[in-house]
Amino acid sequence: MKFFVDSADVAAIRELADLGMVDGVTTNPSLILKSGRDIIEVTREICDIVDGPVSAEVVALEAEAMIAEGRRLAGIAPNIAVKLPLTWQGLKACRVLSGEGSMVNVTLCFSANQALLAAKAGATFISPFIGRLDDIHLDGMELISEIRTIYDNYGFGTEILAASIRSVNHVRQAALIGADVMTAPPEVIRKLAAHPLTDAGLDTFLRDWEKTGQKIL
Ligand code: G3P
Repeated sequence: MKFFVDSADVAAIRELADLGMVDGVTTNPSLILKSGRDIIEVTREICDIVDGPVSAEVVALEAEAMIAEGRRLAGIAPNIAVKLPLTWQGLKACRVLSGEGSMVNVTLCFSANQALLAAKAGATFISPFIGRLDDIHLDGMELISEIRTIYDNYGFGTEILAASIRSVNHVRQAALIGADVMTAPPEVIRKLAAHPLTDAGLDTFLRDWEKTGQKIL
C-alpha cells in the first residue's frame, strides 16, 4: 500500500519523507488555507521534497475553466496530479487532462457508480472519502470494498486512493480490502507506530536492564 500525506505542511511532509514514509502527497483548498501559503509556491516546494504524485486541486466549476487551471497546476512540476471534483464537468476535464498525459486524481467520491465513471474517464486515482461517509452514519469501508470489486471485475487501472482517513483503524481496514493508496494527515501516520503493549514492554525491559548494572556503550 502506498502512503500519501494529506497535508500542505512542508515541515511535516519533510519529516515523514526523511523516514521513507511518503509515496506522494494530497492537498485540497482547505489544506492550502490551513498552510497559510500561496498554492503555487507551497505546491512547488512539496514537489521538490517528494518524487511521487502531488495532488493539487482546481477550484473552477466548468470543464473548460477546470482544464485551464489543471494545466497551470500541472506546469508546476512533472509529478503533479491534477485533482478534480467528481462532477459531470470534472469528468469532462478528467478526460481531456488525462488524454494530455497529466495524472488526474478525481476527488469527493462517495459512491461506487461515481468511481466507475472516473475510471472510464481515465482517472489515475479515485479518492473515496471514508471519514465523511462515517460522519453521516454510512460505511466508508464498504465503499472501498465495492470499488475494489468493480475495478477488479473489469481490470480498470485507476488506483483506489482511500481518503478522509481519520484513524489507524481506517488505515488497517483499507489495507485489508486492498486500497492501492491511502492518504492521511501526518498525525495519523505517526500514530500507526504506537501500541500500549510496546510502551509497557519497553518499560519492563528498561527497568530490568537498569538492575543488571550493565552498559552497552
Ligand atoms: O483527502 C481528503 C481529505 O483531506 C478530507 O479529509 O478529514 O477533511 O474529511 P477530511
